[in-house]
Amino acid sequence: MNPEYILKDPSQVFSPGLLFYKTLITRNIQALVKRVGNPDRLRPHVKTHKTRQIVRMEREAGITKQKCATIAEAEMVAQCETPDILLSYPMVGPNCARFAQLVRKYPGSKFSVIADHAGGIQQLSDAMKKAEVTAEVLLDIDVGQHRTGIAAGPAAKQLYETIACSPGLKPGGFHVYDGHNHQHPLEDRKAAVQAMLAPVLEIRDALVKAGLPVPRMVCGGTPTFPVFATLDIAGAECSPGTCVLNDFNYGTWFQEMSDFTHAALVLTRVISRPTPTRVTFDLGYKAVASDPPAGKRCVLLDIKGEHVLQNEEHLVVETLAAERFQPGDVAYAMPAHICPTSAMHQFAYVVENGQVVDKWEIAARDRVLTV
Ligand SMILES: Cc1ncc(COP(=O)(O)O)c(C=O)c1O
Repeated sequence: MNPEYILKDPSQVFSPGLLFYKTLITRNIQALVKRVGNPDRLRPHVKTHKTRQIVRMEREAGITKQKCATIAEAEMVAQCETPDILLSYPMVGPNCARFAQLVRKYPGSKFSVIADHAGGIQQLSDAMKKAEVTAEVLLDIDVGQHRTGIAAGPAAKQLYETIACSPGLKPGGFHVYDGHNHQHPLEDRKAAVQAMLAPVLEIRDALVKAGLPVPRMVCGGTPTFPVFATLDIAGAECSPGTCVLNDFNYGTWFQEMSDFTHAALVLTRVISRPTPTRVTFDLGYKAVASDPPAGKRCVLLDIKGEHVLQNEEHLVVETLAAERFQPGDVAYAMPAHICPTSAMHQFAYVVENGQVVDKWEIAARDRVLTV
């Protein structure tokens, strides 16, 4: 185990407790800026950590733009006086008026949002008009994940024109998120990005030719931002999230990203030794994300064994080393997926030099702040 992870006095940490390692987060932010070359080309996604303090650390590194998935995240980021905030989620129903209210409430931040359908654009335009505010709208382009977005082609071009002539909305460029590109070799991710970009650049050029601005393209997450960072695309911004904290899965899959360190763990304790070969920890799936398959949701550092059962508050490990453990013993778990793990904790214990120095609220785990 990295000796930087070990707490000199874990007695201050209630388990299960989320640990954020501040020095390592600082290093990850520096690595991010170094890879992209210029903080202006970065728009990190806040969803991974949902904390004001990390937004401020990124600001100190020169990053002025943030990406969010929820209105609560966008509000939290606005409360940090972030100049430029993209809500990369389609607004529908009452969230349209809520977004307009957010824009009104935080005039110090410039907000933008994404859209992929004429119906959603109409609802948003009506709400913005009613609130007498405006925002830029980025066309969400489906580059292969088939989650949201519209495929690059004539219909996408037409939709961008619809945005341009909708009251309260201004065309803000493209959202190009390729969450399906998880190929482990970097060369395969490079090829995938090159293949998907051609039709996107084609509609961008056609729109610009027709006189519409396409000021930015917000591209990629952790797996592909290193690829986008090397391409010369006008207005390109990279939007990774996970690498600021990093997790077991990404660390294992993308080995060329060794400049990013795992900066978040969950401290857990032995609560029971039900059989001679079993140890049970207070690390259920309400403390570590359960979207990875059972048995593979975290790695207990320096503990070899099979995760045979996980309930809401229990993780049962079958291990030949069970005898070694006593109730109350501390262990450190590296989550397979950090983003939903952070959201399960009310706050993170902030660690520096082996000491807990602070607690940071995971503020945007709430669905509603004030708006
Ligand atoms: C739209 C969008 N942008 C950026 C990201 C960040 O990606 P990653 O977590 O791989 O860094 C995500 C992750 O889910 C996302 O959904």
